[in-house]
Amino acid sequence: MNYNKKSVEDVEVRGKRVLCRCDFNVPTKEGKITSDKRIVAALPTINYLREHGARVILCSHMGKPKGEYKPELSLKVVADRLSELLGVKVRMAKDVAGEDAHRLASELQDGDVMLLENTRFEKGETKNDPELSKKLAELADIFVNDAFGTAHRAHSSTAGVADYLPAYCGYLIAKEVGIMGKALADPERPFVAILGGAKVSDKLNVINNLLEKVDTLIIGGGMAYTFLAAKGCKVGKSLLDAEKLDYCRDMMKKAEEKGVKLLLPVDTVVAKSFPDPIDGPVEVCTVAAEEIGDDVMGLDIGEKTRELFADAVKSAKTVVWNGPMGVFENPTLAKGTIAVAQALADSEAVTIVGGGDSAAACEQLGFADKITHISTGGGASLEFLEGLELPGIACLEDK
Ligand code: 3PG
Repeated sequence: MNYNKKSVEDVEVRGKRVLCRCDFNVPTKEGKITSDKRIVAALPTINYLREHGARVILCSHMGKPKGEYKPELSLKVVADRLSELLGVKVRMAKDVAGEDAHRLASELQDGDVMLLENTRFEKGETKNDPELSKKLAELADIFVNDAFGTAHRAHSSTAGVADYLPAYCGYLIAKEVGIMGKALADPERPFVAILGGAKVSDKLNVINNLLEKVDTLIIGGGMAYTFLAAKGCKVGKSLLDAEKLDYCRDMMKKAEEKGVKLLLPVDTVVAKSFPDPIDGPVEVCTVAAEEIGDDVMGLDIGEKTRELFADAVKSAKTVVWNGPMGVFENPTLAKGTIAVAQALADSEAVTIVGGGDSAAACEQLGFADKITHISTGGGASLEFLEGLELPGIACLEDK
């Protein structure tokens, strides 16, 4: 797809009302934001717009309120955090595109910032309803999309509104697409991709697309057991996508045909049952990948596999990682995920972590600043790796 899109710098924003879609879908606990990473990631675009005299109308969704007002999903907490980060008052509208939003938007002066209420409080948002898209467009003169994390959704505030306003990308989308797009289109080689996570079925197209591009594909996490089973190993009580065995065989064949090295675990940490609670005590031992007993399940990669995967990363020039190697919420089963995060942190290569759990793991371990790029997208970065067209980017003006 064409990612060469016009950006905020390609349009005069002074004195204009700019509707800027961000991804402020941040985690909260008891009404407090627990990670403001996505808010901080939106600051370069907001600062640029303010410094260039735009009247900034920010909007985002948070959670899944399903078209109803839910006080616990109000963006007021985001407005407060943004006010602190920007050092100016961010005015909060009481609605998404109603009377209050219009009144506040009309009162904006050059450089002012306001935030609309959670776009998913409107039923039309997730249906990409043209009525809502039009109402949002009436608030502004220009649309800027900087919500990479939501760019895979064709919703009113991420794509529909671009039918009614000239639409540009912000710095975060430009950065995400620039770094990940280059890695996929023209990587420095060897190019190694590491995939983990629970189910093969979540990553079918990612595996297929990456096999076209990488030199080595590493598969760990829960999905490795379906690959091992497809190779003829017994996997005991490990997670198995029984319907995907043929798919795994096809992918192994494709790897061979393309000359891609496909690395699977050679040993695995097993337990008799899944820890309950997930971070509770668990009795484990390590066995060779082809010796998983009938009464146990694999829950992390073993020591030899950790070394094997780290070695592959060592010789790489580009590394993309998505998905944990084991049940990393449990300290006993986190060693594989930590080892991969450590290998990326130690590597001189361009290292890209594709959002979600692997991003959280790098941050929790304090490796974030040693990684070239940690995507703010979970689902969006996966769809990007699949090679899919992201509607929130496709709708923007071409360069
Ligand atoms: C995310 O957190 O991945 C994005 O904000 C999209 O959220 P959604 O999965 O609720 O659409």
